[in-house]
Amino acid sequence: MAEKNRDNQDNIIKMFNDIAKTYDLANRILSMGIDKLWRKKACNMAFDFYGKRKLDLVVDVACGTGDLMIDWEYVGANKGISISNIVGIDPSVGMMEVGKTKIPHRTFIEATASSIPLDSNSADFISISYGIRNVVDRVDGLKEFSRVLKKGGLCIILEFTKNNKKNFSSKLTKFYMNNLMPHIGGLVSKNKDAYTYLPNSIENFITSKQLCDELKSVGLEPIFVKGYSLDMSTTFIARKI
Ligand SMILES: C[S@@+](CC[C@H](N)C(=O)[O-])C[C@H]1O[C@@H](n2cnc3c(N)ncnc32)[C@H](O)[C@@H]1O
Repeated sequence: MAEKNRDNQDNIIKMFNDIAKTYDLANRILSMGIDKLWRKKACNMAFDFYGKRKLDLVVDVACGTGDLMIDWEYVGANKGISISNIVGIDPSVGMMEVGKTKIPHRTFIEATASSIPLDSNSADFISISYGIRNVVDRVDGLKEFSRVLKKGGLCIILEFTKNNKKNFSSKLTKFYMNNLMPHIGGLVSKNKDAYTYLPNSIENFITSKQLCDELKSVGLEPIFVKGYSLDMSTTFIARKI
């Protein structure tokens, strides 16, 4: 990775370490709890697309404080699906420290998306919720997902994607993200910069179509793409071919 990108990535990781303790509370307030529904829905759909009752390994990259790992476990259990291993990967030790208190019986590994210390063709699912935007070397990360996934395995991405529409709902979403989010997030976390980074990083992120093209370029074929809550959050499911 070039030095400028490395510095940028290090700053992002430091920022998540700084806000780790208040991250969950800020999330619940800012999304009014809807983020939990988006994650659960994605898990339900992935299990339905995959169709298997026994999974060897689910890897949650950018696992942060472990919310999606918890959903994989509970949504799976509710559907009678067993998962032998759920592993969380994140370069922020602070975020994972919080996660370990919430789901202590699962494994957390300090690593980035572009350097996952797991065997090739070993995972049934690789997920990443609200994390791919923070991966500076994103295409290398997606290549790594493709390497670790089994053939036919699913890559599940949840992200706030850039919305180029100019309708009322997109204006409303932008107003919320640019004007309210930095203040509310800043108040809860005492770190306004972190919650100013969020809308800026969405603005600078690629569109859904571009992300689908990148997925295809690494051998992950999109099979489901849908925006939720005024297209604020988009769920992508892609299959390793
Ligand atoms: C917005 S949080 C999302 C956490 C969690 N997945 C969730 O849904 O709440 C973004 C996470 O991405 C992690 N992250 C930043 N850069 C990363 C990278 N290069 N590879 C993997 N994770 C990264 C951060 O440490 C942080 O925990």
